[in-house]
This record gives sequence, C-alpha cells and structure tokens, in this order.
Amino acid sequence: MKKLVLLAGDGIGPEIMAQAEKVLSQLQADGLAVTTQQANLGGCAVDAEGAPYPESTQQAVQNADAVLLGSVGGPKWDTLPRHLRPESGLLAIRKDLGLYANLRPVRVFPELADRSSLKQSIVEDLDLLIVRELTGGIYFGQPRGLREVDGLREGFNTLHYNEEEVRRIAHVAFRAAQGRDKRVCSVDKMNVLEASQLWRDVVEEVAAEYPEVSVSHMLVDNAAMQLVREPKQFDVILTSNLFGDILSDQASMLTGSIGLLPSASIRADGVGLYEPIHGSAPDIAGLDRANPIAMILSLALLLRHSLGEEAYAKKVEQAVAQLLSEGWRSADLSGKDEPFKTTNEIGDAIVGLLA
Ligand code: IPM
Ligand code: MG
Repeated sequence: MKKLVLLAGDGIGPEIMAQAEKVLSQLQADGLAVTTQQANLGGCAVDAEGAPYPESTQQAVQNADAVLLGSVGGPKWDTLPRHLRPESGLLAIRKDLGLYANLRPVRVFPELADRSSLKQSIVEDLDLLIVRELTGGIYFGQPRGLREVDGLREGFNTLHYNEEEVRRIAHVAFRAAQGRDKRVCSVDKMNVLEASQLWRDVVEEVAAEYPEVSVSHMLVDNAAMQLVREPKQFDVILTSNLFGDILSDQASMLTGSIGLLPSASIRADGVGLYEPIHGSAPDIAGLDRANPIAMILSLALLLRHSLGEEAYAKKVEQAVAQLLSEGWRSADLSGKDEPFKTTNEIGDAIVGLLA
C-alpha cells in the first residue's frame, strides 16, 4: 500500500488541503489503495513542535511514497530568526528528501483565457512547462549570512552549481520535452555569471544526448520579457532555482490566476512533494474563498508522478476542467462584484463529478 503524508501547513493551507482530502477519499472509495498520515510543516509546526520541519515530520516523510503540501508562511512568523521561519521548513524538506526537480506546468483553460492579464490571443492554448532546479543554486549556497564589514552591515549569499546538479535537472527537462513539443529553452544569465556559464555548457552536453529535442538558450531578463510578449514560443523552460521561482510566478498570471497552478518536486526514484505554487494567502485564510484548484491539481500530479496512477490523475484533471467549463469561478477568477463559488463548494462539486 502506498503511503502519503499530508502537510496542510499555514494560512489557506488547511482549507484547501481539506478539499484535496475529500477528493482523495472519493478516489479511495473508487479503489485507490493509499494510506494517509498528517504531519506539521511551517508555522504550525513552529507553534506545535518548536521547529518548522520538526523531527516527527522528518520521520513521517522519510518512508512516504509522496507528500502533499498546502502552503506555509504568514506574518505571525516573519520576525522569527531565519532558521525558525516557515519557509526554512519548506526548503529543508525539499533538501532533506533530495527533491531536485520542480515541475511547474502552465496551462490556460480555454474558458479562462479572458481572465488572463494579457490579451486572449497571446495566451489562448498556452501549454508550457517550467522545470526548475530546486535543491541548489543561491537558495542553498554557502557561505551566506549577515555580517559587518568596515562598519557597514552586509548581507551575502553564494550562487553555486556543480555539473552533476545541472546535468540531472537538464535530463529531467529533455525527457519531459520528449513527451511534449520537443523543445527546451534553457534560461540563464551567462553574460554575467560563471555559474550560468557552467549551466549553459552542461545543458549543451546533455542536449547532445537528445537529438530529437531542439535546445535554445535565453538570458533570464530576455526570458522574462518574452514570457509576456509571446509566451507560446516556449515548450519546456529549464532553469535554476531562483530564476525558476521568479519566472513561474510571472507565468502563472498568464493563466488568469496563480490559484490554478500545481507543482511537483521530485527525485529520480519517483518520491515527490506536491504543492500549489501559490503561498498561504493569510489575508483570506479561514474565509472559505481560497481557490482549491491548484491544490487539487497538485494531488493529480502526485497520482501521476509518484503513484503511477495515470487514470485517477486524468479523472481529477477532467473534473476540474469540466467544472471550469461549466462556468464555476472561485473568488480569484471573478470580477470585483461578481458572485463566486467558495472553497468548499468547489471541492464538493469536484467530488460530485468524480462520484
Ligand atoms: C515557491 C515559493 C518558495 C520558493 C518560498 C516559499 C520559499 O516561493 O515554491 O515558489 O521560493 O521556492
Ligand atoms: Mg515562488
């Protein structure tokens, strides 16, 4: 029996996780064989256990086949020392589990093309995949810190990649492209950074192993511009940790709302952590108005990538697509004074479609 660990987290995390759990229960009733266990990550873990990635959670996820995560963070914990902040817990679990490959698919649902911040014609039928390196780069580089030099306070971080870190994420991108439109655009800052020079060299080497996939390289500033100028030119975007963080938030708005985008963080053996790319939205926490779709689509990615349950994954994705095509809109997808469906209504409706 496959083991799942559910980490609801902070802010809107618990209420969107509750919708994913309803969906999961429905799939279990339909024959999906999984066990689930809850654990704490982020601010709730700091409050309950004194650390954002406590020992008990480390143990729980160690033997899990997959982890489903809501969201972490909130103003309540922002003033804590860095190692106690919710975000440190998220980075620690990614690193601890070795989840180096972050997949962020960006798809525009046909009936939501008019909700994009860009003209409909620019985003219609958009389908791109951001492959973000997740356990290296400036997020983890040493040395880092705050210090005083010649009487001036200074903050510093280190950008570092070795060839193996680049090679393995490049393979993920090229393999993904094989199942898509067979185009990889690697994004770096090679004109300024040595780490990007190495990145580009290694991506070229890996590309040679995939003759049927075309490779291109783009500087990150240009990529940010091209993403809003002509996003459909991209199939797979391969990039480093920091650039992928920034570009994926930017790309999300092309779809109408960041509340729609799921992500998968995986390693070679298929173990993965699945979470919406959005944050914990403390301003709307507890109001039953968060969009649970990114969370539910994250569960679909979990079923596909970690459990090999493609049929269940498709069912969930189809239910979401059907709901949207029937005109269901969460608050983030509605106009200012338009009516919207609540978090629970959307979760229940998706369960209804699966039943
Ligand atoms: C993301 C988030 C995280 C990141 C934060 C919360 C640490 O923005 O998953 O994109 O920067 O990776
Ligand atoms: Mg981010």
